[in-house]
Amino acid sequence: MGRAFVYVILGGGVAAGYAALEFTKRGISHGELCIISEEPVAPYERPALSKGFLLPEAPACLPSFHTCVGANEERLTPKWYKEHGIELVLGTRVKSVDVRRKTILTGSGETITYRTLIIATGARALKLEEFGVKGSDSENVCYLRNLVDANRLVDLVQSCPGGNAVVIGGGYIGMECAASLVINRMNVTMVFPEEHCMARLFTPKIASYYEEFYKSKGVNFVKGTILSSFEIDPDGKVTAVNLRDGSSLPADMVVVGIGIRPNTSLFEGQLTLEKGGIKVNGKMQSSNGSVYAVGDVAAFPVKLFGDSRRLEHVDSARKTARHAVAAIMEPNKAVEFDYLPFFYSRVFTLSWQFYGDNIGDVVHYGDFSGGTFGAYWVSNGHLVGSFLEGGTKEEYEAIAKATRLKPAIEDVAELERQGLGFALTA
Ligand code: FDA
Ligand code: NAD
Repeated sequence: MGRAFVYVILGGGVAAGYAALEFTKRGISHGELCIISEEPVAPYERPALSKGFLLPEAPACLPSFHTCVGANEERLTPKWYKEHGIELVLGTRVKSVDVRRKTILTGSGETITYRTLIIATGARALKLEEFGVKGSDSENVCYLRNLVDANRLVDLVQSCPGGNAVVIGGGYIGMECAASLVINRMNVTMVFPEEHCMARLFTPKIASYYEEFYKSKGVNFVKGTILSSFEIDPDGKVTAVNLRDGSSLPADMVVVGIGIRPNTSLFEGQLTLEKGGIKVNGKMQSSNGSVYAVGDVAAFPVKLFGDSRRLEHVDSARKTARHAVAAIMEPNKAVEFDYLPFFYSRVFTLSWQFYGDNIGDVVHYGDFSGGTFGAYWVSNGHLVGSFLEGGTKEEYEAIAKATRLKPAIEDVAELERQGLGFALTA
């Protein structure tokens, strides 16, 4: 025997929390909605795990960062779900889903049925073993995807005060963790294969600014190489990281952030996949009409660029979740999702935002010696992407608005001369 729900959200992360809030705003009855999550806690703002959660003084902890505080909305505590008659099935991994029969089998052996399913399974951290390196299960090596990982990271920092931390990967996790580790007074070395950090987004000029800033905080960079093996002592602890270039870095702890893979495996062979995720239409609906997908796992059409994207960022998780619920609850009014990609990060005293697409020619502007600076990307004669470090709320809103307008750029030199002024007057 099992339970039956009208709506089931599979996954209990960022997108699940925002979808739940949207369901209640649009009016659901008690007992209609269920969230099934492998995590033992109600949905929370995952970005906190690499920022406030890692602070040495007064760190952020639950319940303070349950969704949806990240978008200045209500904070959905377990009590909130109870009061709204939403069933939270936590600490429960879903083992299989049959989209034809509309059934879900949980790890505890329960079968849950649905009328409409929202897949919000997010992604998992890629493991070093997938690149042929052994030993990432050692007690002083950690990844960072969920609360369990974040608690481990904090425990490791506390176990070796002032010790050597090696950060593998120069992307978002690497940059944000390296900053947090420095704030915790660790000796930090970042290792990554590219010529500069944040290679998926930053230009060499932008990257160089952040790298110099990190160096001024004591971070060492080892670029253009990857680790080949770990030195592991008889107790199973990593003591050093051996690199492809033949060098070796002493390590009291290691943090690995080498990318993610969307959690699609439950649906392979059942739903159409695209860009490594679940292909959905402008209503977030998959190839099966009763199944929607949102957040990191969804590949959705981005009208602005006329193609399909799978985005791995919190704003997209929040907005795809809200859009799916709107389409489910009011199908006759449903419009095509029209999303402007938005990424951001905050490290040390720095803070940047990016909107749009980073393709085409780049124009830099502003004060790269410690003030406000940014960049525009121009493709096929139109502004398609904007980056800004150190902006005000109004300036960020201006670059977002300008990017959405995709204005024609006839004179790139003039754009460079106007700099931020271009967006402010667009
Ligand atoms: P999310 O990963 O949040 O949730 C997926 C849920 O599904 C999890 O609860 C998981 O346990 C569950 N699940 C998966 N498979 C399951 C199964 N078989 N059975 C049951 N449950 C299952 N973005 C940004 O824009 N700015 C930022 O500053 C940051 N910072 C940041 C820090 C850190 C440490 C991470 C890991 C990520 C970020 N991000 C970010 C990215 C952002 O957090 C991410 O895009 C969203 O969390 C995606 O939301 P989802 O709900 O799609 O997945
Ligand atoms: P990422 O894709 O941002 O960066 C991965 C990095 O791993 C690459 O830049 C590269 O330097 C490195 N790398 C790749 N293969 C490697 C290998 N074999 N050996 C060593 N290094 C290798 O991924 P991430 O930093 O792991 O972040 C994970 C997810 O979390 C992403 O989806 C990201 O969007 C999300 N996240 C976002 C934010 C934010 O938006 N501010 C913050 C934290 C995490």
